[in-house]
Amino acid sequence: MAKKFSEILQEVKEKLTSADTSKILTEIKVDFLGKNGVVTGLLKGMRDLAPEERPLLGQQVNSLRSQIEELIKNREEAVKQRELQKKFQDEAIDITLPGKVGELGTLHPITMVKNDLIDAFSGLGFVVYEGPEIESDVVNFQMLNIPEDHPARDMQDTFYITDSILLRTHTSPGQVHVMTSSKPPIKVMCPGRTYRSDDDATHSPIFHQIEGLVVDKNLSLCDLKGTLEEILKHIFGKDIKTRLRPSYFPFTEPSVEVDVSCFECGGKGCKLCKGTGWIEVLGAGMVNRKVLKNCGIDPDVYTGYAFGIGLERIAMLKYHIPDIRMFFDDDLRFVKQFK
Ligand code: DAH
Repeated sequence: MAKKFSEILQEVKEKLTSADTSKILTEIKVDFLGKNGVVTGLLKGMRDLAPEERPLLGQQVNSLRSQIEELIKNREEAVKQRELQKKFQDEAIDITLPGKVGELGTLHPITMVKNDLIDAFSGLGFVVYEGPEIESDVVNFQMLNIPEDHPARDMQDTFYITDSILLRTHTSPGQVHVMTSSKPPIKVMCPGRTYRSDDDATHSPIFHQIEGLVVDKNLSLCDLKGTLEEILKHIFGKDIKTRLRPSYFPFTEPSVEVDVSCFECGGKGCKLCKGTGWIEVLGAGMVNRKVLKNCGIDPDVYTGYAFGIGLERIAMLKYHIPDIRMFFDDDLRFVKQFK
């Protein structure tokens, strides 16, 4: 019997030396210690022994069992260690490789100009009102003193949705919404997208404006000039001068075109200002009495001034962009230049 025990032990040892995976170890465990394994088989032999011999065999088998368990356990630790090592190797990452940095976007130049203007106007007490892009003919034109069949309609080539519904051609209808829903004093800016059936290097079917409207008692063209000068200096530099030239808009009377002295040549005359020393930047004027009246504000008590700024025009001047279509081409090489 003793010989058999040592043979078993020897066999276990041999099998263990070549066992190099947890799977094989489990198989060895089952073969020797399992329910139908070799060691359990030995105990079954007890039945054939005399009762007094049985305890001894029991002890010997138990001792064999613990020796085998011990052997397997030691081997198990070594195998586990090796497997772990291999896993580390297989899954190793080179932490010295340069990382992949997620690409950061930039703001579109039009958004930058818009944010800058909103900031500047907020500093002067203007609040933002954003109106709808789909407007009625009444609000986009008629309330602003542009009746049907009026020649001024030709100034703005319109996208009609139905005979009476259209895509707003300017942000001026923002004035109407604000004046019909609130009482003076009013001081708002209306930034937003606008649409006209135009398409060339300086006109795009979709473009952006900021409308400004101030209504209060005793306002004059001087207030308009002072406000715009402040804003234009903020955009083009504090050395520029501004001038007002007579113009025509149906919703303002008098109407003006606002020029800034050329910020490239300081007014001497260059390519940008076409030799004139001045650059036209926006339209403005005193709110027409008829418009105030249309919106329920008494023109004998209140006066107002208004202006409309084209954001593409400002951005093109400021950043020397030659073609308005570049804003809408979605070319990242273009957009990323304005950080
Ligand atoms: N709405 C005009 C346009 O799109 C711009 C404009 C001119 C707005 C004069 C005004 C203004 O408020 O007073 O051409």
